[in-house]
Amino acid sequence: MHTAEAQKRQAAEAALAHVEDGMVVGVGTGSTIRYFIDGLAGLRSKIEGAVSSSEQSTARLRAAGIPVLDLNAVGPIPLYVDGADECDPSRCLIKGGGGALTREKIIAETAQTFVCVIDDSKRVDILGRFPMPVEVIPMARSMVARQLVGLGGQPVWRDGFTTDNGNWILDLHGLRIREPKDLENRINQIPGVVSVGLFARRRADLIIVGGTAVTP
Ligand code: 5RP
Repeated sequence: MHTAEAQKRQAAEAALAHVEDGMVVGVGTGSTIRYFIDGLAGLRSKIEGAVSSSEQSTARLRAAGIPVLDLNAVGPIPLYVDGADECDPSRCLIKGGGGALTREKIIAETAQTFVCVIDDSKRVDILGRFPMPVEVIPMARSMVARQLVGLGGQPVWRDGFTTDNGNWILDLHGLRIREPKDLENRINQIPGVVSVGLFARRRADLIIVGGTAVTP
């Protein structure tokens, strides 16, 4: 049980221990989170419901009989559980491989505790091996891409993919992100950027790697 897939399942199951009676649970997106939703189904009578970060997770939550709530109606939430594409020793993350980065970031921002569930392959010393997603307003794609080149990356348009918000994704290759907060702030300031899949300002509070909580 040491394959990446087994570790994803173990991490997701370990995160269930953070779910408490009456909670509204923030739910991320991706293959690791599919295991979390499957486990959450067994706790559905115990929780108030879930706030979902994507249409994909919403469909799975509903199929599992878990009420999906509007974030505007519930206010701050106690717990957010999500995966990541990369995690550094400071718990800063690259997310958005599944394209759900903007809603994920919104939920992370409002969560008291952000538990990130990963397999060991996601741990890196320096973020940037995984292409960092940037969600952009479609008309701004080329302009934003030029500015990202100016920051030292090679943006590649995720051609044919539209986010749940009706926008496009640029995947930024070739970065070695030594100052994640600074880069996040700089990219956020480019007009036309909806959000960047760099979670440094609001990083994870707890990392669970294959069933084991890690405190870097
Ligand atoms: C989706 C995400 C996911 O958390 C990330 O891509 C990890 O996915 P997986 O659990 O399938 O490896 O950010 O936008």
